[in-house]
Amino acid sequence: MKAPRGASLTLDCRPARAYSACMTDRSHDRLLIVDFGSQVTQLIARRLREANVYCEIHPFQKVTDALLDAVAPKAVILSGGPSSVTEPGSPRAPQKVFELGVPVLGICYGQQVMMEQLGGRVESGHHREFGRAFVEPAGRHGGDSIFSGLFAQGREEVWMSHGDRVTAIPPGFEVIGTSPNAPYAIIADTDRHFYGVQFHPEVHHTPNGAKLLENFTWLAGFRGDWTMGAYKDEAIRKIREQVGDAKVICGLSGGVDSSVAAVLIHEAIGDQLTCVFVDHGLMRLGEADEVVGMFRDHYNIPLIHADESELFLGALDGVADPEEKRKTIGRLFIDVFDKHAREVGGAKFLAQGTLYPDVIESVSFSGGPSVTIKSHHNVGGLPEKMGLKLVEPLRELFKDEVRALGRELGLPASFVGRHPFPGPGLAIRCPGEITRDKLEILRRADAVYIDQIRKHGLYDDIWQAYVAILPVRTVGVMGDGRTYDYACALRAVTSVDGMTADYYPFSHAFLGETANRIINEVTGINRVTYDITSKPPGTIEWE
Ligand code: XMP
Repeated sequence: MKAPRGASLTLDCRPARAYSACMTDRSHDRLLIVDFGSQVTQLIARRLREANVYCEIHPFQKVTDALLDAVAPKAVILSGGPSSVTEPGSPRAPQKVFELGVPVLGICYGQQVMMEQLGGRVESGHHREFGRAFVEPAGRHGGDSIFSGLFAQGREEVWMSHGDRVTAIPPGFEVIGTSPNAPYAIIADTDRHFYGVQFHPEVHHTPNGAKLLENFTWLAGFRGDWTMGAYKDEAIRKIREQVGDAKVICGLSGGVDSSVAAVLIHEAIGDQLTCVFVDHGLMRLGEADEVVGMFRDHYNIPLIHADESELFLGALDGVADPEEKRKTIGRLFIDVFDKHAREVGGAKFLAQGTLYPDVIESVSFSGGPSVTIKSHHNVGGLPEKMGLKLVEPLRELFKDEVRALGRELGLPASFVGRHPFPGPGLAIRCPGEITRDKLEILRRADAVYIDQIRKHGLYDDIWQAYVAILPVRTVGVMGDGRTYDYACALRAVTSVDGMTADYYPFSHAFLGETANRIINEVTGINRVTYDITSKPPGTIEWE
């Protein structure tokens, strides 16, 4: 996974808060992204962060002339979006965007908006194109630095997702690249520095897309000086501004996200923050002590350690259905958190380590409503119940960026680099009914497996690895005796964001050695299997 080289902020534009551009960081050159509603607009920001460029995303409805004056961007990117410019009333950019005298890049719908507003033509419908395509060079593509490094192999692989297409370009523009379904796949007006691409340079499936975006920022004169350190300072300033002198509570799960959020907020407002760590008895070996120890010893953050394992394990007794498990845990979590949070008294805010993938829920291009595969455990029921407002300082970040921020905040590398661990914990790694015996066996098997992975230097190559204890017992022979013990499954996947995943290709030698160690060192397991299912069609967790 590539570590981010920089950072940027986007403004929170949820309706509950008055919209303003006053939070714009004026100490850096700013790139404005006008959001027309594409599923992948945040990926533009992410690519820019990787190029150490500060950017802000503003929804198109909010991009007024006044906002343009306030932000004073050094360049503008018009995002993709689900609308058709041929429909009456469809979104437009303020004409002033094209009068600022700064470079403008239109992506997909953004390109079509630019064409429509500058005197080109867009046609609807007949040439839908989704997925991989190839753009051939046309014209003098070497003439402008935004295209440097492109077409080195003769043509560019790109990701298309459009129904409409440009059919005529305004005076001053020229064609730089074409594809069979997009005759104006890349266009440029190199005098005014206006550019348009029909494809999505922000997605991984466009291999040179990040290069093109970075070139665009260089051409606009960005110095590439925006770093995760700057992100941290800006996030701290925003938290102080939002919270004032009110109290904040934060649910700590022991995972990287809530830990980074807590440490960041503590740095911003000190002991106005209290963390509540609910131990549901479904943590891994030694995990509860590790998390509580880190917060108490390392950071001196006020922390309530609520050992509620009896309550949770009691309620889960006899529950085998995965959704019922998840809902039971989620419900109890909210009750327990509520009970302990009231001890803090008068908190007005709830802090959460919500990440960007949690916000979009699905990265599908279609953007269609998605079915519930799993009810994710979180503290989502709390804000209404307790009349709390949310503080979510990681909302714009992806996992690897949160890790970079964690390192910036001085969290121990071993902690920041930990694999994700789900809120419902070991409950969803114990298919069928949960018993204390099974949990104990599972904890010990998991510890051996992770130890093996670390010893072989594989931990950081793997997104997530764990053992699931299976609800079957199998016959074995150890020494001269018969065994009748549980089977377990090893799981290890690679992934970028947890949305899709591939199983990790361990060597046979590694698998053999690990199976041997587990069977020898963990009483209660006599058979080890390796799960080679990718996601989709599987999911990362077993339940
Ligand atoms: P799945 O199993 O859906 O998991 O492929 C994708 C990622 O999400 C984690 N996960 C959860 N995380 N609460 C969480 O905080 C949950 O309820 C939950 N369920 C799954 C999972 O570990 C993987 O990283």
